[in-house]
Amino acid sequence: MHVLIPAAGMGKRMGSDRNKMLLTVLGDPLLAWTLRAAEAAETVEWIGIMGQPTDFSAFEEIIGGLGGQKPVHLIVGGSTRQESVYNGLQALPEGAKGVLIHDGARCLVTPDLFDRCAIALQECQGLIAAIPVKDTIKVVNGDGWIESTPNRADLWAAQTPQGFAVEAIKTCHDKGRANGWEVTDDAALFEQCQLPVKIVRGEETNIKVTTPIDLAIAERILQQRS
Ligand code: CTP
Ligand code: MG
Repeated sequence: MHVLIPAAGMGKRMGSDRNKMLLTVLGDPLLAWTLRAAEAAETVEWIGIMGQPTDFSAFEEIIGGLGGQKPVHLIVGGSTRQESVYNGLQALPEGAKGVLIHDGARCLVTPDLFDRCAIALQECQGLIAAIPVKDTIKVVNGDGWIESTPNRADLWAAQTPQGFAVEAIKTCHDKGRANGWEVTDDAALFEQCQLPVKIVRGEETNIKVTTPIDLAIAERILQQRS
């Protein structure tokens, strides 16, 4: 299985002066935790990381420091996550059948979740890790008034990994670019193309480190694991 890790963001919501991928938790950069989980997953054979060229030397240091056995490739990311994933898809080796796309910022992912997604992808063309939402979610109009309350039992919070048949997701990304679809995850492009996406049970601890409080939460979770 091939894994693409988008890590080319700016981490604006983190409010740090550099890419949050390089911020450390328990002494290791976020990207190192993510990469270690991908390295440890039995089904993963190839890893691509999308980053901004200014971060490449720092990324190389992280990759070298882990001393993993699997090939890890650095790919130039784009100005949006969608563009970064597009670039990653173009960089997959010829003949790659399946791909798991996993946000670098979800650094608490486990090798088991990678493996469960890879195995589930043998039976379908598209899937995402997701968990049932705990909050009641409101649809709110621009003026701050509630429009509706979707039934919570139908709502799932999307995570990554998101796995796809390579040719199918490439076609969806091409269509997205041609039609100007702007999405925040890859499954949304699959959905726009009327292709089915299966849910794989995600992990409650598989949070996306986004704001400063998430660093404290991540640290706590990792401490509990060790
Ligand atoms: N990402 C990317 N290329 C971009 C933007 C985001 O590869 N141009 C990656 C991020 O590095 C991150 C993942 O997509 O691993 C999820 O995005 P997000 O959590 O939004 O990270 P940032 O975009 O860096 O953060 P922010 O939106 O707060 O600026
Ligand atoms: Mg972002």
